[in-house]
This record gives sequence, C-alpha cells and structure tokens, in this order.
Amino acid sequence: MADAKVLSGAGLRGQVAGQTALCTVGKSGTGLTYCGYDISELADKVQFEEVAYLLAHGELPNQAQLQAYKARLKGLRGLPQALKDVLERIPADAHPMDVLRTGCSMLGNLEPERSFADADHAIERMLAVFPSVLLYWYRFSHDGVRINTETNDDSIGAHFLHMLHDQAPSQLHSEVMNTSLILYAEHEFNASTFTARVCASTLSDIHSCVTGAIGSLRGPLHGGANEAAMELIEAMQSADHAEQTLMGMLARKDKIMGFGHAIYKEFDPRNDVIKKWSKKLAEEYGDSRLYDVSVRCEEVMWREKKLFPNADFFHASAYHFMGIPTKLFTPIFVMSRVTGWTAHVKEQRANNRIIRPSADYTGPEPRPVPALSER
Ligand code: COA
Repeated sequence: MADAKVLSGAGLRGQVAGQTALCTVGKSGTGLTYCGYDISELADKVQFEEVAYLLAHGELPNQAQLQAYKARLKGLRGLPQALKDVLERIPADAHPMDVLRTGCSMLGNLEPERSFADADHAIERMLAVFPSVLLYWYRFSHDGVRINTETNDDSIGAHFLHMLHDQAPSQLHSEVMNTSLILYAEHEFNASTFTARVCASTLSDIHSCVTGAIGSLRGPLHGGANEAAMELIEAMQSADHAEQTLMGMLARKDKIMGFGHAIYKEFDPRNDVIKKWSKKLAEEYGDSRLYDVSVRCEEVMWREKKLFPNADFFHASAYHFMGIPTKLFTPIFVMSRVTGWTAHVKEQRANNRIIRPSADYTGPEPRPVPALSER
C-alpha cells in the first residue's frame, strides 16, 4: 500500500489544475504578474483600487472608470442593521478570520447573488464592506463603541486604518496599506483560491465561494503565517537573540513561519517591496529591534536552509509599526485577496467543468460487513 507522504502528487504540487488569464507565479519578470503587469511595477505605480478593477475586468481603468469605481465602492461601505446585530453577538476572543467568515456568509443571506449577472455588484460590495465588517466587530467587542463605517477616505487602505485608529491615517501609512493590498491581491491557484474555484465549479453562489476561501486562508501554512511571524519576532529581544532562537528551532526541525514557498524556490518577489516599506516604517516608528531582528532571521534562514522570506514575513513588522493588532493581519489579506478569489470565480464560471479529481485508494481490500455481535 502506498505511503501518502511519498505520493508524487502530494499537495497537487507541480500539477496543472486548470487555466487562468489572471496571474503568473514564478514565471516571467520578477516572478509575479497580474493580467500581464509585473507586481513590482504595479506596486510602484498604481492604487489598489486599480488592481481590483484590473482583476475584475481584465484591464486597468481609465481616469473616468477609476473615479466611478471608487465612488461606487465608497457608497458600499455601510453595514445593514441585521449584519451589525450579528457582529455585536460575536465575542471579543473570537478570531477575526472567523468574524469575516461569518460576516461574508451573513451578507450572502441578506444580499444574495440572485444570478451570475449580479456577480460584479456582489464583488464590489464585498470589497467595500469587508473592512467595515471587521472593524465594526473589532471596535464594538474591544472598545465598546459602534463606529461609523461610512468614512469619506479615498482608499480602502485608508478607510481601514481610519476605522481602527479613529483618525485619518498619514500619507505614509496610506501608501503602505495601498502597496500591501496590491501585493496580496492575487496569486494564481493557491489553496484559498483553489477552494473558491472548486466551490464555483459546482455553480454555487459567490458568497459561498468566498466564505470557503476565507476558511482556507485562515490556516498558518497559508494566510495565517503573517500572524505567526509576528509572534515569532516579537519574542526576540535582539538580532543575536534571533540568531540563537532560530538555530534552536532549526535544530528541532520547527517550521519558521513566513519563510519558504510552495512555488517560488529562490525568492518571493513581494518580499523586496514590503521589506523596503517595513524599513521606512521602522525609521518613522523609532524601532531599533523588530526590523533588525527580521533582517537577521532572513540572513540565518538563507545561510542555514536556503529559505527566503515570503510576502508574510516583513508584513508582520510593517503592520505592527502602523499600530495594527496582530490578530487583524490575516483579515487584511482577505480584504485584498477577495479581488483575486472573485476574479477566479468569474473565470471558472465562464468556462466551467465541475472540479472532481480522483484519489489513489490506500484503504483495506474489499471485505464483508461482519454482524454487530462479531465486531
Ligand atoms: N521552516 C523550516 N523548514 C521549512 C520551511 C520553513 N518555513 N519551509 C520549508 N521547509 C522545509 C520543509 O520542511 C522541507 O524539508 P524536508 O525536505 O526536510 O521535509 C523543505 O524545506 C522543502 O519544503 P518545500 O517542499 O519547499 O515546502 P512545501 O512546498 O511543502 O511548503 C510552505 C511550502 C509555504 C507551506 C512551507 O514553506 C511552509 O510551511 N512555510 C511556513 C508557512 C508560511 O510562511 N506560509 C505562507 C506561504 S506564502
């Protein structure tokens, strides 16, 4: 009988499971493109809302389209009372990813996608309202306040920070959020996107697809890695302490969260971008520990294991310097990746066949069912 661990197709690694026109990972340019545009150029030149539009419609918006799109998104930030009621019942110690999962599912009850022709509206609604869902719950359960989620901030990133801190963010923080949301928007057939596509392939509704994807993203081997990376670096007092800690963890064969990648083998193109912002934020914040600790972790992991930081590692310190609580890190990923997930749902629907792979059977040979008294 085959040992599951040695099956060549374990984790579907290296297997093509479908087609996409949305994204390439580990191929051309710096290694990541959205609809043909290189991630480093997008991160440098555009707003996250332009990337969201690109993924939804296949092309970057012109000035008028962008203006209209952003105005629509701004108008969709409000929460229905029934959703607020649900959010107010979720305890403060719930994981915010569970809150988003419930929020998305509840939205699907209140404002269902009645036909696939409704998809674009449902997508814009989720993109606009997820930060409101998250922060309404967070501020109510942690600070006892019912915030106004209909702020006038120009961008989704600024809207998020404004609701969190009760004041409009600085230019620097808005820019970092913008870049971060661009970096997380899309990543081909990763686990959560594949979840969304599997669900879409049954011709299910878009809220079910996104709810399932949130569940997949929650795990520490996927989106949860940025929170786990923060817990790791927070416990390190200095660069030398980081070195000692990592050497011990590697000797024990522990997984170091925020390092390695299933597709990239030498570097993650998103890391360079967020690392630069983390350095800038560290200077602004007056940090003399977390950034240096992170850099030493990067050096040790490359020297010892030839493993490199993925997008999550320097995101941890960057978010921390902006005063974002660690448990909100992975939900920010949702606020961004909802663009990629929903673009994949539309793509799957446009050329659908139900996703139904086969398995190598490793169970017992056929056998008769014994009577209850004989078991
Ligand atoms: N820390 C320590 N060792 C690691 C590691 C890490 N972060 N990532 C990979 N390795 C080890 C593996 O255990 C494996 O060792 P082995 O051959 O002795 O079993 C070897 O490196 C090769 O692993 P690889 O096949 O490249 O990884 P994968 O494709 O199975 O898994 C990840 C990819 C991302 C799940 C894995 O790197 C990981 O768990 N990273 C930490 C979680 C994380 O940051 N996730 C976010 C991804 S964006």
